[in-house]
Amino acid sequence: MPRPRRRLPRRGPPWPRGWHGRDQDLEEANAKLRETQVHLIQSEKMASLGQLVAGIAHEINNPLSFALSNVFSIDGWLADVLADTCDCLDGEVRARLEKARARVVDTGQGLERVRELVVKLRTFSRLDEGEFKSIDVREAIDSVLLFLRHKTADRIEVVRDFALQGDLPCYAGQLNQVLMNVIANAVDAIEDKGTIVVGTAVEDEMFVISVRDSGCGIPKENVERIFDPFFTTKPVGQGTGLGLAISYKIVQAHGGRIDVRSELGQGTEVRVLIPLGLTA
Ligand SMILES: Nc1ncnc2c1ncn2[C@@H]1O[C@H](COP(=O)(O)OP(=O)(O)O)[C@@H](O)[C@H]1O
Ligand SMILES: [Mg+2]
Repeated sequence: MPRPRRRLPRRGPPWPRGWHGRDQDLEEANAKLRETQVHLIQSEKMASLGQLVAGIAHEINNPLSFALSNVFSIDGWLADVLADTCDCLDGEVRARLEKARARVVDTGQGLERVRELVVKLRTFSRLDEGEFKSIDVREAIDSVLLFLRHKTADRIEVVRDFALQGDLPCYAGQLNQVLMNVIANAVDAIEDKGTIVVGTAVEDEMFVISVRDSGCGIPKENVERIFDPFFTTKPVGQGTGLGLAISYKIVQAHGGRIDVRSELGQGTEVRVLIPLGLTA
């Protein structure tokens, strides 16, 4: 026989009045948790990739060294042969030798590019090296802007919005590299004319360097991938996809973080946050 259903006394919701504010708190906490989770996954990925990359860079480096040195020698020998036999070689043989030399030079340039990549991979995997000292962030930003002047020239207006001028203790060379990567990306994102605002501030005991561009923006589906090593949307030869991966590791090693906000077609803001008062 079915039991008569007991009517539950009508009560209000099981939370006190005025509790609805907590919903918002919960949502915020949840968002924070999710953000932390993304950071954790990312750092785990980076740690294992770091080891893998160090191994690969090492393996590439040895054969690369002898290939480069051989190319250098062959180029020298060909130059000698061409100089020594300049009168006695018939035209066709000479043309072939010159062609061979041109190819050797091309090969050398290609190998140099591989070497640059290997250097970047090594930086990526061994970020504990470098000198710890205080840098004047404003000065560091200015020197990066100077390096990139040929790319910004007449087309990009650069606004320096330095709310904070001061020294930041950090691994100086590495932080410079972060600034270079982030600002270079902002320059690359602006196809024709546009603006880049570089700013400094302090927030919650963190030194904040922000780089805001009026460039192409990042599609939503790519935002999570931009820190992945080798993720690039740039044409072959222009992007290595290592800039942000390296920057992420450097900033993480400093106990900081990088925040990215982007609106497709409107622009992107990248904020690099480094804790103040770091010691070596
Ligand atoms: N400021 C930016 N605006 C638009 N896209 C960006 C910006 N910064 C980074 N990206 C995207 O992230 C990708 C990865 O950047 P990065 O790691 O520096 O590698 P690379 O610059 O060699 O492509 C870029 O190819 C680009 O798609
Ligand atoms: Mg880059």
